[in-house]
Order: sequence, then C-alpha cells, then structure tokens
Amino acid sequence: MDKFRIRGGRALRGTVAISGAKNSALPAMAAALLTAEKVTLHNIPKVRDLITMSKLLAFMDAKVSVTEIPSSDYVIEALTLNHAEAPYELVKTMRASILTLGPLMARAGIARVSLPGGCAIGARPVDLHLTALEQMGAKITTSHGYIEAKAPGGRLKGAHIRFEKITVTGTENILMAATLAEGETILENCAREPEVTDLVHLLKKMGASIEGEGTSTLRIQGADKLRGAEHSVIPDRIEAGTFLIAGAITQGDLTIMHCQPKHLCSLLAKLKQVGVQIDVVDDSTIRVHNGVDLTAADVTTEEYPGFPTDMQAQYMALVTQAQGVSAVTETIFENRFLHASELMRMGANIGIEDHRALVHGPTKLSGTTVQASDLRASAGLVLAALVAQGETIIERVYHIDRGYQDIVEKLSALGADIERVHAPSV
Ligand code: UD1
Repeated sequence: MDKFRIRGGRALRGTVAISGAKNSALPAMAAALLTAEKVTLHNIPKVRDLITMSKLLAFMDAKVSVTEIPSSDYVIEALTLNHAEAPYELVKTMRASILTLGPLMARAGIARVSLPGGCAIGARPVDLHLTALEQMGAKITTSHGYIEAKAPGGRLKGAHIRFEKITVTGTENILMAATLAEGETILENCAREPEVTDLVHLLKKMGASIEGEGTSTLRIQGADKLRGAEHSVIPDRIEAGTFLIAGAITQGDLTIMHCQPKHLCSLLAKLKQVGVQIDVVDDSTIRVHNGVDLTAADVTTEEYPGFPTDMQAQYMALVTQAQGVSAVTETIFENRFLHASELMRMGANIGIEDHRALVHGPTKLSGTTVQASDLRASAGLVLAALVAQGETIIERVYHIDRGYQDIVEKLSALGADIERVHAPSV
C-alpha cells in the first residue's frame, strides 16, 4: 500500500485548480444507465471511485470511453443492460455503487445489487432507498448479501414519498428511479446538496421533467424514455475546502480557481470566524491568506447548506492551531472521529465525548506515522502534517486516492514537501 511522506512547516503559496466533484460525477455516471443514447460527461475527476463506477457500468454491458488530461471526459452508452447487477467485488470498494439501483430499476425493472455494509465512519444503512422503491411498487428481498428488486409489470409507479431522514445518495437514487416511473412522484425531505441539484440539471437535459431543484421537495413526472445529453459536473466543493484550509493552516497565500464559492458559504463563514482571511475574487475564485492568529470556534456538521461532515476532519486539523477550545460536533455519521486519535498521536489536545470533540489549541504538532481511516480523515491528516514539525508518514492513502485528484502533485506545486512512497510490488 502506498504512503505519503510529508515534511511540515512550509507556507503554501500559489494557485491551484479544483477538479470536478466526485460526488456529482458518481450519480451522473449512474444516470447514463437511464438511456440507450450516449451521455457525455465533462470534468470528471481522475480518482479511484470513478474508475470503480466505470467498471460497474461496464459489468452491466454499458460502453464507457474515457479521454485523458487535464480532467477526464466520459462517454457512456448503455444500449442494453444485460446484467442488471452490481457485484460484491465492486460494491465493497465503493458504497456509492448503490447509486445504480435506482437507474436499473427504472430502466430494466429489475436489479441485483450487493448490500454495501458498514464502513469506518458508521453503519450507513440503505433502508431509506429500499423503502422508497417499495413505495414505488418494487418487490424487494435481501438474501445472500444482495438486494434483489423487481418492479411488477417491469415499471415502477410514481408515489408520494417522504424521506424519514435526509439522505444524499437516497435522494439521488429515487430521483433517478422516478424519471422513468409511471406517473408523478413527489419526494419530500430531500437532500439539497449542490450535487443533487447538478444531477437534476443533467436529468433535465436528458428530457426528465423535474420541479423544485435546490429545495427539499422534488416533483417528477415520469417519462417513457430519456435521451442522451452532454454535461459538465460542478467543481468539488470538498476539495476546494480542503485547499482553503491548507492555505490557512500553513499561514500561506493561495488562490483557488475553478471552484464555486456559493457552494462553500457555511465553510467560508466559519473560516472567517476563526480569523482566516478570505477574499472571494469572483464567482469561481477564492483567495485565502492568513496573517493573524487563529481563534477557536465551535462547529456542528449538518446537511447542506450547513457545515459539511466531509469537511469536519480538515476543520479539526485547523483548530488544533487556534487559540482556545473548539467544540466539533458530528451529527451525520456516528463514528467519524477516527482521525482525532491520530491527530492526538501528533500532539493535538482533543477530548472526545460521544459525538463531540473538544479541541484545545494551539498545540505544536510533531510528525509521526499515522493511519488514514477514510477519505476525509486522510485529508485531515495531510493538513496536520503540513504544519507538523519533522516528518509524517501517512499510511493507507488508498483512501485519499478515492476522492482527491493528484493531491501530491497539487500540494507540491504550492510548495509543500510531500511525496508518495510506492508500495513495493509483490
Ligand atoms: C453522501 C456523500 C458523502 C457525505 C454524505 C453526507 C456521496 C457519494 N457521498 O453519502 O460524501 O459524507 O452524503 O453528506 O455523495 N442513512 C440511513 N438510511 C439510509 C441512508 C442514509 O439511516 O438509507 C443515514 C446514514 O447512515 C447517515 C445519514 O443518513 O447517518 C446521511 O447519510 P447519506 O446522506 O445517505 O450519506 P451518503 O449518501 O451515503
């Protein structure tokens, strides 16, 4: 397994371009299963989860062609769906494989998708996806680790569904399912993340009739079929946020390009509260520079437009350098503090009480060997390593490769002392 070696203490300076959003690209690729025509997607980031998704689509007999550099363009053509199945071998490496369930049910009326199971940050059930599909008439059984679903008569029926809890991929899955269902579907208590809205934009280009984009109620009129379309996915707000904190934590001066500041409102407000200097230069550029001492500030993760759980680990790394006590409360996932114990091994002073971490700062961090436990925890450890004294080795960086395009190259170009240490091939 590859590792990162980081020697901390350098202020990052320069300009960095943000890649496309992994969490938009994943549902967009799954949406291509809804039509027999070509769907062309631009700005797909070159990260491992997207490679997994293309393998999944290819397994189902979709043709996926990819062009390289600078970011990938994907052309997906799902002329026929001969295997409406997502096998365990692929699902186990990427929970978002569940996003194929809705489109398969919509187009083929049948699907067999491996149950994703838990992950490091919590149990992460898919019960809300399944209950909603059942409300649309699907007959669902789970056996031998697989979800087996069938729509009687081969077509889902429109329904009035209220999600008991806000779920991002659940909203996306059922939205996609509804586009080809018979009649009208009303979805209430939907996730309002920009990635959901981006999917609505793609589906509309494909001919879907959807009202309520950006709100918690979506109204969909099912169509008999959808057509091909061309779409560019939105910039990755979590990658942009991670670089904002990289600039702030190293007392650097970074210009972050190709991002959408409007998707980062809660994070920008919180960083300003901590004392980070932020200039929104225009609608795709933010400058971060940090001349003053940082001050502690509490944060609670929430669904969009609240503070994203996917920025919690990076924020925790930042406030190890802020004066005072910052309470970091996690409300979305039950077990998302694994990075805290690794930060403590680097010298951070953090107390955990259930879903709340109390970070006492500022503390001098010192390099050591740490383990990445999930995608965003790894980003938090990279940020901590950038300010730690001496050398940090981050193990299990395959987690970070799932979601950050060229992170070593991008940080190096900004002046960080970081290298990837390749695992010896066996
Ligand atoms: C998505 C994002 C992930 C982000 C998360 C929360 C993708 C590919 N992933 O994950 O990066 O951290 O949103 O912003 O977009 N839940 C249930 N039953 C369900 C579904 C969810 O109880 O059927 C719970 C989850 O366990 C969690 C909460 O609802 O506690 C929110 O999860 P959800 O929004 O579904 O996260 P994902 O869509 O998996």
